[in-house]
Amino acid sequence: MRAKKLAERIKRYPAISDLQKRAKTKIPRVAWEYLEGGTGDEVGVARNLRRLADITLVPRLLQGELKPDVSTTLFGQNYRAPFGMAPVGLAGLMWPRAECILAATAARYAIPYCLSMVATQTPETIAAVAGDMGWFQLYPPRDPALCRDILQRVEDAGFNTLVVTVDTPAPSRRERAMRAGLRLPLRITPGFIYEALRHPGWTFNALKAGMPKLRTLEKYTESKKMESTISFVLERIGGTLSWDYLGEVRDEWRGALVVKGIHHPQDAAEAVRIGVDGIQVSNHGARQFDAAPAAIDLLPAIVRQVQGRASILFDSGIRTGLDIIRALALGADFVFLGRAFMYGVAAFGKCGGDHAAEILLEDLKVNMIQMGYARLAEIRGGAVERKG
Ligand code: FNR
Repeated sequence: MRAKKLAERIKRYPAISDLQKRAKTKIPRVAWEYLEGGTGDEVGVARNLRRLADITLVPRLLQGELKPDVSTTLFGQNYRAPFGMAPVGLAGLMWPRAECILAATAARYAIPYCLSMVATQTPETIAAVAGDMGWFQLYPPRDPALCRDILQRVEDAGFNTLVVTVDTPAPSRRERAMRAGLRLPLRITPGFIYEALRHPGWTFNALKAGMPKLRTLEKYTESKKMESTISFVLERIGGTLSWDYLGEVRDEWRGALVVKGIHHPQDAAEAVRIGVDGIQVSNHGARQFDAAPAAIDLLPAIVRQVQGRASILFDSGIRTGLDIIRALALGADFVFLGRAFMYGVAAFGKCGGDHAAEILLEDLKVNMIQMGYARLAEIRGGAVERKG
């Protein structure tokens, strides 16, 4: 029944852009602006999308019947497809218990789900849902004891891959979320009540789930109040990350280690020297630094620099299965999506993660056939043409 209903719904909402449009109507403005926004004048968000769209690929035809196999292996783990869900902080603001919904999709589809350290669920809760598809993303705490404690919890919970985000030396200005009045904890103003009444599905689920809180960090604050967790984050997390720090995390963490947000080939070389297993080329969905090049434009030079000494992961701007092919063609081993999966959940609640995964899987396979490819390995180094 579930599969049939989902298939029917996919016919009506066949693209991530359909989920995006619907998501906007289903959640309060403040949540939408936080999800959708970039930083500054927000030219970077459009640039990420445009530069991906500019990549054309030249198909090879007359290949007989093709049945694409999109399964792959990364860090010794088998995945059903070469894409996964990027970490999204405060996901429970966009849709209550979004992390649990997406972790369940990850387990069902055998694709990775990366839990943000500033998400609204704990690693202990999410590991139980995601099973061996769970990854954890760390923003570097200043206090080494705190860092060790979080890593220990993550390991004990059963996460096999740690992602350290390095493109956030300070919180960026998110003007769009500011204009929409984003304050944590959420203030119950007349404006917010109006928004809550206009979005009854979101409000009903929010009342059941309770106010979104940074639950992973609650353990370390004196009060469980959101105010104290937020000031804790601002005072004790970030701003100190250095290569030495990353080296210490490498010594501490026994599982696979990914460094997320690398832009420059020399930084990629340094990360390889430290012994990371993966380099995630990403500009944080253009949410940190508006003058950063489109993430896809950073990819080829980093692939050349790394020369297979670490796996190359990619995110920022991926919206279709075809975009996944584009990133693989330029040398990525694996691709992540942040907003796309959140659009799914905001649009359709607990069925939304599966909906997004189905769209991407189908689009990936159909476009592989158009290209004349049956295996992912054939995509890499395929005939790529770039504009500009
Ligand atoms: C993010 N991203 C992010 N990254 C991270 O390392 N930790 C985090 O807590 C967050 N939080 C977050 C919140 C929201 C609302 C968004 C949209 C993104 C960045 C994310 O992991 C990923 O790099 C981008 O989302 C990729 O770009 P696309 O796929 O959204 O275009």
